[in-house]
Parts: sequence; structure tokens; C-alpha cells
Amino acid sequence: MSQENVFVFDHPLIQHKVSLLRDKNTSTKEFRELVSEIAMLMAYEVTRDLPMKEVDIETPVAVAHTKMLAGKSIAIVPILRAGLGMVDGMVALIPNVKVGHIGLYRDPVTVEPVTYYCKLPEDVNERDVILLDPMLATGGSASAAIGYLKEKGITNIKFMCLIAAPEGIARIQKDHPDIKIYCAAKDERLNDHSYIVPGLGDAGDRIFGTN
Ligand code: PRP
Ligand code: URA
Repeated sequence: MSQENVFVFDHPLIQHKVSLLRDKNTSTKEFRELVSEIAMLMAYEVTRDLPMKEVDIETPVAVAHTKMLAGKSIAIVPILRAGLGMVDGMVALIPNVKVGHIGLYRDPVTVEPVTYYCKLPEDVNERDVILLDPMLATGGSASAAIGYLKEKGITNIKFMCLIAAPEGIARIQKDHPDIKIYCAAKDERLNDHSYIVPGLGDAGDRIFGTN
């Protein structure tokens, strides 16, 4: 598998928190907090290439010739439900961020994505879009969501997840070779039910306590 466009964050804080996420004994409250914290830590790296502009700022002492973010910044788009868990961490860090939503679920029998809701910020075409979903398993959901964003004319899309399976990475690379994938861990494989192994189970159920 080509590693081009795939970035795995091996920062110790991220790795530590992902290990806690995987633990089947981690409570819903803790799980939700960890997902948000990891998203915030990842946001720091995912936004590393944001365009900057030179500015002069008057400090109490003198004028500082310094830099600030240029342009309209970012829109984040969580894939419902589980992507919602990553929103707070990103919003806390990124100035002027707007939030769109794409509702998709994986049909339990066919594992094909079914779309049920989409709402994006009006100025989304002027923003960089970071698509959020904790799990990249077969890649069907992320591929469909990226396809939808592209149909809306969005050109600058990054996909950020917590755990990626090789099968999902391969699917995105085949369907959308231009998309950069950012993850906190790359796991071994999918099982017969298309769950990630070792993974962390069903992310949506663990975030919302619905299993
Ligand atoms: C999970 C996950 C992804 C999808 C990944 O969502 O949050 O959206 O599965 O699987 P894929 O890569 O094989 O498409 P799920 O369908 O369980 O919906 P939920 O978030 O509403 O629980
Ligand atoms: N969705 C999840 O929440 N977990 C998996 O392992 C696969 C898909």
C-alpha cells in the first residue's frame, strides 16, 4: 500500500490516549473526553500548512511584526454520528471554524453507506474542509462523504480519523487519490463483520453509550 498522503500521528500523548480508548473497560464519559482530546491534539498537526499573513500588532511595549491566519480558515464536517465526538476538540483550537454535517450510516448487512442528512456552511467553498470520523474501516462511508463534498465543488479536503484499517486507506487512495488521510493509528485488518481489528469496537455506540 502506498504511504503517500497517509499521516500517522505517533505523538506520545496521542498514542497514550488511543490506548485508553481501545480498552473495553473505558467508560462512556471517559471515551467521549478522550475522543475530543485526541481530536484537539491532531488538529494542531492537521492545520500546520494553513496560509498566514504578515500583520503589525501593537504590544504594550512596541509594534510586533508578526503573523496571523489568512483567509476564511476552515470548515469541519463530522460524519454523523461518531464524527460528532471530534467536533468540540477541533472547535476549541481553530479560530472562526464553521461546522457542516453529513449523516451516513453503514448498512449492517451490506456495509454500504446510506446517506440521511447533509448541511454545509454557505461559504464552504472558500474554506479548507476537514472531514471527521473516528473510524476508517472499509472506507465506504468516508469515500461517499468525500464524493459528496467534491460534488458541492469543494476542492481542498482532508480526512481525519482516529483509527484506520489498511482496507479503508486503500479504498480512499483508489477512489480519491488526492485526499490526505490523517490518523492516530493504523490497525491490522478488518474482521468478517468489517470491524477494525484490534480497533476499539463501535465508536458511535461508545461515544453515545448506545450499545
Ligand atoms: C461507523 C464509523 C464510520 C463507519 C466506518 O459509523 O463512525 O462512519 O462506521 O465504516 P466504513 O469505513 O466501513 O464505512 P456507523 O455506520 O456505525 O454509524 P454511527 O456513527 O451512526 O454509529
Ligand atoms: N465502525 C466502527 O465504529 N468501528 C469499526 O471497527 C468499524 C466501523
